[in-house]
Amino acid sequence: GRRVTVRDISAAKERGERWPMVTAYDAMTARVFDEAGIPVMLVGDSAAMVVYGYDSTLPVSVDDLIPLTAAVVRGSSRAMVVADLPFGSYQSSPQQALESAARFMKEAGAHAVKLEGGRRVLPQVEALVSAGIPVMGHLGLTPQSVNVFGGYRVQGRGQSGDELMADAKALEHAGAFAVVLECVPADLADRVTAALSVPTIGIGAGPACDAQVLVWQDLMGLTPHPAKFVKKYFDLATEMNHAVRAFADEVVSGAFPTPEHTYR
Ligand code: KIV
Ligand code: NA
Repeated sequence: GRRVTVRDISAAKERGERWPMVTAYDAMTARVFDEAGIPVMLVGDSAAMVVYGYDSTLPVSVDDLIPLTAAVVRGSSRAMVVADLPFGSYQSSPQQALESAARFMKEAGAHAVKLEGGRRVLPQVEALVSAGIPVMGHLGLTPQSVNVFGGYRVQGRGQSGDELMADAKALEHAGAFAVVLECVPADLADRVTAALSVPTIGIGAGPACDAQVLVWQDLMGLTPHPAKFVKKYFDLATEMNHAVRAFADEVVSGAFPTPEHTYR
C-alpha cells in the first residue's frame, strides 16, 4: 500500500482518532514498526544520544542523520518518515533551513521535517512550507535549548504557558502540519490540543494530545534511566543480556555450534 501522508494525519484529527509515533534510526527496526502499523516514524536528533553516544542532541549534524534517515525510508513502506533538523542546521536563516531540509528529502527520501521552536523560527517554517515541505513543530522542552533551560525540566508552567500557546498557534498559522509538545503540564497540552486544528503529538504532555511519541529505546527498555513520562513496554536490555550471555556460555563450553548450524 501507499505511504501515510499529511492528508491522512489531518483526517485523523477531524475524526478524533489518536495515533502513535516512534523514533527509528535504522532499516530493521523501521521494518518492524512499519509492519506493526506505526503510521509516522521520526528520525530524531535523539540519535545523538541513542545511536552516537553523546550526552545531548547538540553534537549531531545533517551529515550524521542523513544515512540514518535513508535507512529508515528504505526499511519502511507505509509510514511517513519525518527527519529532525539538527541543532545549527536551520536557525541562521530560512535559506539555511531550506538547504538542510532539501538534503533530507533529496538524499534520504524523508517525507517531512521537524524543527524546534515557535515564533522565533516562523520565517523558517514559512519558507519550508512555501517550498512544499511538510513541517512538524516542536515546543515545550526543546532539547536543543537545554543550555538555556539549565537541564531537562518541565516547560510551560504558569505565564510561560501563554507563550507556548501563542507559539503553537503561530506554528499552525505558518502551515505546520503537527506540533510535538514535550514535557509540558497536561492541562496546557489539553488546551493547546483543543485550540489547534492540526494534531498535537505529546511526549510527557499527558493524555489529551492527538498523538503520542516515544523514543523506541525508551519504550523497549534499553535506556538505563528513562524520564518519568516513559512507559517501558519491554525489557530489551535484560533480554539481550541473557541472550548474549547464553551465546557466550555455549561458545566457551563448546555447545555451539552443533551439526544443525554447521555445513558438511
Ligand atoms: O529527537 C527525538 O527523538 C524527538 C522526539 C522525542 C519528539 O524529537
Ligand atoms: Na528531536
